[in-house]
Amino acid sequence: MNTNKIFKVPVSDLEVHPDVKEKHSPINLDKIEYTMKMFGQQQPITIIVVNKKNYIVDGVLRFMAAQNCGIEKLDCIVKDLADDEIMDFRIRSNQKAKISFLETCHNVEHILNLLGNSQGKKRELMGFEDLESEDNFGSIGKDRFELACIILNLKMSPSTLRKLMTVYWSEKDLPEENQTGVIDLLEKDELSIHKAFSLIKKKEKKLKEKEERRIRDCLRSIENTSYRLYNKSSMFMNEIKDGSVHISVLSGPYYTLKEYRYQGEEPYGQEKTVEEYINKTKLFIRELLKKLTPNGVAVCIIGETYRNGYQGICRKYEAAIEEVGGKILDVDIWEKTNPLRHPHNKHFQPAKESIIIFTKQGADPIFHDQYIKSKTVEEGAKAKYGRKREDGTKNVYLHNDETPITNVFRTPVFNKAEWEGVDPNFKHDAPAPLAVYDRYLKSYSEPGMTFLDIFCGSGQGLISGMRHGLNVIGYDIDPESIEFCQKRIEHELEKRNKPEIKLAA
Ligand SMILES: C[S@@+](CC[C@H](N)C(=O)[O-])C[C@H]1O[C@@H](n2cnc3c(N)ncnc32)[C@H](O)[C@@H]1O
Repeated sequence: MNTNKIFKVPVSDLEVHPDVKEKHSPINLDKIEYTMKMFGQQQPITIIVVNKKNYIVDGVLRFMAAQNCGIEKLDCIVKDLADDEIMDFRIRSNQKAKISFLETCHNVEHILNLLGNSQGKKRELMGFEDLESEDNFGSIGKDRFELACIILNLKMSPSTLRKLMTVYWSEKDLPEENQTGVIDLLEKDELSIHKAFSLIKKKEKKLKEKEERRIRDCLRSIENTSYRLYNKSSMFMNEIKDGSVHISVLSGPYYTLKEYRYQGEEPYGQEKTVEEYINKTKLFIRELLKKLTPNGVAVCIIGETYRNGYQGICRKYEAAIEEVGGKILDVDIWEKTNPLRHPHNKHFQPAKESIIIFTKQGADPIFHDQYIKSKTVEEGAKAKYGRKREDGTKNVYLHNDETPITNVFRTPVFNKAEWEGVDPNFKHDAPAPLAVYDRYLKSYSEPGMTFLDIFCGSGQGLISGMRHGLNVIGYDIDPESIEFCQKRIEHELEKRNKPEIKLAA
């Protein structure tokens, strides 16, 4: 008889065919028992009938499990097979097409009893807070993952399966344009589960950082801030406590470029030699370093002076900072997109300034990267092929919808509109644009920190500081500048307290 009809046969009437007996292994018997108890017999076993005896040729484990569980009858299909056909049949009947990852994951979800649960609930049940741990598989437990591997014949460990499920869930509910595409690459066998998991983790980390940035920016705008202004030289700042300043952005007089008001008898910046200028600079920087917290950051904007040719001011400035104990983190290039025309000889029109970022020795400053919109990825992150490796395989990486800003900074010079509405008669010879301050305060500060500008001039740094939720301190030797800063800050505070009301269109 060769039919697919299913018969109920008493377990006591069954026995394992002698050819099969030697070849089967009781490995995973406990798991089959478990599924038999939970779901009953899911698949019939195959028998042949020889001399009125029922010999099992496929399904020995289900038979043994039935015996151990006290199941009385089993569904059987009877086949007509000669002895030499038995092994061939077993191989043919175990033939399986590879099922897709999506289908596997869906089936696993079913086995883990998670269908219909919310993302949050699933995460909690699966112990997602510590996915690298072998000990914590959430309330579902490792056994159940093992069980899913066995039932679905997955050649992977429970922890790999859990990683696969993480990938699946993080992608499945997203609109297609927001998916990374890793599931597709898994299907095409071009990515390992571990790599897919690490890409998804990277994506989640990026999203978390994005959210943190959004919250930080929000807090900056509501932080109550204070200000202090000093109309005196910042070469000695006894008014403020040592080790109390978290961030400072400064732009002192450049060497022999501008002559400011009320600079006293020995104006800083008008020294006879570059060496004298640099020596004086060291005094300011030494005092500033004293005022920084151990992890505080100072950012110094400085430009070249082409007097009798190139003077190497920026290079010497850097050396001076190091000589008085500063540790330079980087020197950014600021490219002014609309530089003032200067006479220049045998070199191009200068348009760059240096921005030197430094700390005390041994500092571990905070740093928040900043990003701009990527030109190639619309939204979220996409898995992309990188360069070919030597062995011909291709690396896959995550291309994000935003890329970090670089240490080359392009912006126009100051625009008077930045202090509009304060005092139309006030003039300053060298204000730096707000964008310069914004850039550094955003990255090197947290709301509530203390900001110091030791050459505050028109107060650009102080205003940017307040807008970043910082308590600001300004020094300038010029009384008109300090008076203007006071007006400007009060104006800013007033604006903050009276939110603009716009008529609905
Ligand atoms: C390049 S400007 C700063 C401009 C400022 N960053 C802004 O955006 O308006 C240099 C400033 O340093 C001030 N200054 C010069 N010598 C000083 C000193 N010994 N102590 C404090 N301020 C000084 C000048 O009065 C001038 O306002």
